[in-house]
Amino acid sequence: MDSRFKAVKISEHVYWVGAIDWGIRDFHGYGTPRGSTYNAYLVVADDVILIDTVLRPFKDELLARVASVTDPSNIRYIISNHSEPDHSGALYDVIGEVRPEKVFASRMGLKDLAGYFGPGAIEAAEDGQALNLGGVNLTFIETRMVHWPDSMMTYLADDRLLFSQDGFGMHLASSERFADEIDDGVIREENTKYFANILTPYARIIDKLLDRVQALGVPIEVIAPDHGPVWRRDVTRPIETYRRFCAQRPTMKAVVTYDTMWGSTGMMARGVEEGLTAEGVRTVVLPLKSSDRNTVMTELLEAGALVVGSPTINNNIYPSVAEVLTYARGLKPANLVGAAFGSFGWSGEGAQQVKEYLEEMKVDLVAEPLSVRFKPDDAAVDECRRLGSAVAKRLKEVISGDD
Ligand code: FEO
Repeated sequence: MDSRFKAVKISEHVYWVGAIDWGIRDFHGYGTPRGSTYNAYLVVADDVILIDTVLRPFKDELLARVASVTDPSNIRYIISNHSEPDHSGALYDVIGEVRPEKVFASRMGLKDLAGYFGPGAIEAAEDGQALNLGGVNLTFIETRMVHWPDSMMTYLADDRLLFSQDGFGMHLASSERFADEIDDGVIREENTKYFANILTPYARIIDKLLDRVQALGVPIEVIAPDHGPVWRRDVTRPIETYRRFCAQRPTMKAVVTYDTMWGSTGMMARGVEEGLTAEGVRTVVLPLKSSDRNTVMTELLEAGALVVGSPTINNNIYPSVAEVLTYARGLKPANLVGAAFGSFGWSGEGAQQVKEYLEEMKVDLVAEPLSVRFKPDDAAVDECRRLGSAVAKRLKEVISGDD
């Protein structure tokens, strides 16, 4: 075993034994400029229990960290909270090496694991099932669609600790293991980005899940997710932040995103921005030549308006705009007002197609798409300002409840 890799104690019975992926920059389409971690945890009591594993190439790092606490062959039970390969990739290799007595996963987890790795001797953990295992008290809580249908969380009553798998996680590689040891701005940014780009479609489910966990009345002092740092101080803060994210309440913030071929749609975007800011709406302009889809979604999570511009190319929306809108449509952001705009030369389908995407996203559109032929003149830029102003006024109405 590689002695460089050590476990980190995070509570009375629990050690972090995961892996740090400093090099990853693309996590299935999610940009990870700060890398990530695949967290696994070792519960050491009368017996030894491993909670989740890691991405397959990091299996030796996981086992080396386990070995810094106990011989890996002492692992008697494994609990797989989530079957996505970043947490189960090493599972079958680890099972082969340590030969645990039992492996638990949710019922859906059994199917997923079999789908990925073939059938295995894994036992179903029932939703709400409480188990005294290895001298500690565990409760399984099914959390379907957070983030996959198989997902579950495990509560360790003895340490008042929730193993929350993807929930409350973030893609952030760090030498520190606790959120309170890391710059707060970085934590806020990565937490928001993670929710916006992974969990937004499940916001209502997460809200109900939080209701359910709170209704259980169990004290939670530590939240141990499968990515990024562990929350150990004031865990009400990440929970309240998730409540706010789930609500997707519109705020006086707008995102204007666009691409441009020769600068004309860009000029329109600045006009829209002026109209919005003149009405007191904080506006973030994201040109798609220098902004990626993750940033658009992150900025949008707590915004109230989305205004999108596209030129027309070959009778179509501009490809970069289509990409971002396709991504956004899948993530299902809610409660937005907005509009479409764009410059064109001959046919002008770009802005119209933006409108169709926004309609599918149930964005409350304040006007028909604003299209300008070739370069906008002063009058056309004024029209863009009026469009921004109309979006701002509609947003104010929604926020004030006049809707
Ligand atoms: Fe981190 Fe849904 O896997």
